[in-house]
Amino acid sequence: MFAAKRILTTLVLTHLATCSPVIEERTLTPSPVCLQIAAAISSASDVYYFGHPLYTKGVYHWASSSSQNPLCVVEPGAASDIGTILGIVGSTQTPFAVKGGGHASNPGFSSTTGVHISMYRFSAINYDAAAQTVEIGSGLIWDDVYAALAPYNVNVVGGRVTGVGVAGFTLGGGYSWKSNQYGLTIDTVTAYELVKPDGTVVTVTDALDPGLFSALKGGLNNFGIVTKFTLKTFPQTQVWGGLITITEAFIPDVAAATAAFQANVNDPKAAIITTYNFLLGEPGISQLLFYDGPTPPAGIFDDFLAIPYFTKDVSTRSFLSLVQASPSNATAGTRAIFNTVSVLDYTPALLDVILNETTFWGINLSLKTGVFISYDVEPFLPSIYSHNAETTAFPPVRTLGLLPFNIYFAWLDPSFDTDFQNAARATAATVFNAAVAEGQSNLIGAPVYPNYAIFDTPLSQIYGSNLATLQSLKATIDPTNVMGLAGGFKF
Ligand SMILES: Cc1cc2nc3c(=O)[nH]c(=O)nc-3n(C[C@H](O)[C@H](O)[C@H](O)COP(=O)(O)OP(=O)(O)OC[C@H]3O[C@@H](n4cnc5c(N)ncnc54)[C@H](O)[C@@H]3O)c2cc1C
Ligand SMILES: *[C@@H]1O[C@H](CO)[C@@H](O)[C@H](O)[C@H]1NC(C)=O
Ligand SMILES: *[C@@H]1O[C@H](CO)[C@@H](O)[C@H](O)[C@H]1NC(C)=O
Ligand SMILES: *[C@@H]1O[C@H](CO)[C@@H](O)[C@H](O)[C@H]1NC(C)=O
Repeated sequence: MFAAKRILTTLVLTHLATCSPVIEERTLTPSPVCLQIAAAISSASDVYYFGHPLYTKGVYHWASSSSQNPLCVVEPGAASDIGTILGIVGSTQTPFAVKGGGHASNPGFSSTTGVHISMYRFSAINYDAAAQTVEIGSGLIWDDVYAALAPYNVNVVGGRVTGVGVAGFTLGGGYSWKSNQYGLTIDTVTAYELVKPDGTVVTVTDALDPGLFSALKGGLNNFGIVTKFTLKTFPQTQVWGGLITITEAFIPDVAAATAAFQANVNDPKAAIITTYNFLLGEPGISQLLFYDGPTPPAGIFDDFLAIPYFTKDVSTRSFLSLVQASPSNATAGTRAIFNTVSVLDYTPALLDVILNETTFWGINLSLKTGVFISYDVEPFLPSIYSHNAETTAFPPVRTLGLLPFNIYFAWLDPSFDTDFQNAARATAATVFNAAVAEGQSNLIGAPVYPNYAIFDTPLSQIYGSNLATLQSLKATIDPTNVMGLAGGFKF
């Protein structure tokens, strides 16, 4: 997103300082439900009220439109306390939220005006070299996990850019730099520690509870609150790659290189994200390159490296360094919405449509305090879904090599939320129709990725033929619908 990162940050900060909505006055009298929780939890946990720094940290989200002011923030430090809290919010019918890394792009998915549970204290990382697995707390971000595993020269299949939470990412699917080799993050989970809606703390594995184990693989927060994930680990050497930014004049070269990469590169260690941006009045490209080894084989990335660039930060480096080279923190704190389309192929014609959408909506929405319009082209190998023979909630079909395409709009003024959400729906429809029109007709009815889908996406479009099974399991595990008091895609 160009070196305009600093300009953008200044612009955003100036705006927030002058125009951010006045935070409603909160009574200093703690609400009864928060007092009830405070009295019932152990000394491992705490409750914070408006004005406390840990309240502010607790409600923080990458997208400001995903934050709300709750009655209180609860930081549980023990799984049994989460059971107690679920009992109280259930019996009082209090809306609540569960937040991991706070990167939800949909409003209300991990925020509430009721009781806000922040998972920060679940931050342990225990690597088991013999089992080649690692237990990771659900309050962590991927950066922490990569840093902790680096000394052992192993890694997990996790997030591609800095700051993203382990919990929401892993409960929704998880497209990683290592997915061409090992599948989605859910394909590498061997166990969950779960606080069920009835408050009991259970370990969920394929052997102990295969139905629930499958359902948690894409089933988001429908079945309770996860405190710990056990993930397979894989060898990790130094990697190669980073970020190149490219100006408008060379977009045709990037499109050609991206289409050729998608069509010709079969090395599962190689991956890219080509991001079409509209920033400060013109389209441009943020190009992320990745190779899972210190040096890529000759040829794979030559087309990209030959394009004249604006900035370039590509090298042999640690996995964490590569993840932190991403520009995703530059727009943190603005309002945001994601939407998505699944495609089968990023053809030159489809990339032309995406460029046109970038420019069209970039100009159209800049009038409404739009600061950043972007489209992430994320090619994977058609074999990406072949790494797991189990049934998983998402994707409901593993026979089509569906590629997630991420639409991300950022803006400043809350009064334009609906305009941006409508634009994100309209542009998704345009890209989908263009893909179908050029012959990708298998996309009709194909599932879309829950962690990118806009909030009112029909559940059948995400879970397909799995939906009925998920709904009946949910009714068994949560008969009084406690988890329905929390936001998100609800079975
Ligand atoms: C900058 C950025 C980059 C991204 N990159 C990728 C990417 O490379 N690949 C990819 O697949 N996705 C990516 N995503 C999407 C990402 O997977 C989702 O935003 C995901 O929800 C983030 O998880 P979180 O824990 O940070 O979010 P949160 O906002 O904390 O939570 C998201 C959802 O999970 C629920 N939840 C959180 N913790 C728990 C818990 N312990 N138990 C039960 N439910 C819980 C919440 O209630 C909420 O519904 C990206 C998103 C952003 C903003
Ligand atoms: C991005 O922001 C997160 C906080 O959400 C922080 O933990 C992370 O270190 C930041 N990354 C970089 C590269 O600054
Ligand atoms: C560009 O996109 C806009 C909005 O989707 C559409 O109306 C227009 O026809 C497109 N132009 C071309 C040349 O495809
Ligand atoms: C923005 O796009 C919408 C939807 O196509 C259209 O109704 C509106 O007139 C456009 N506004 C501008 C200023 O182009």
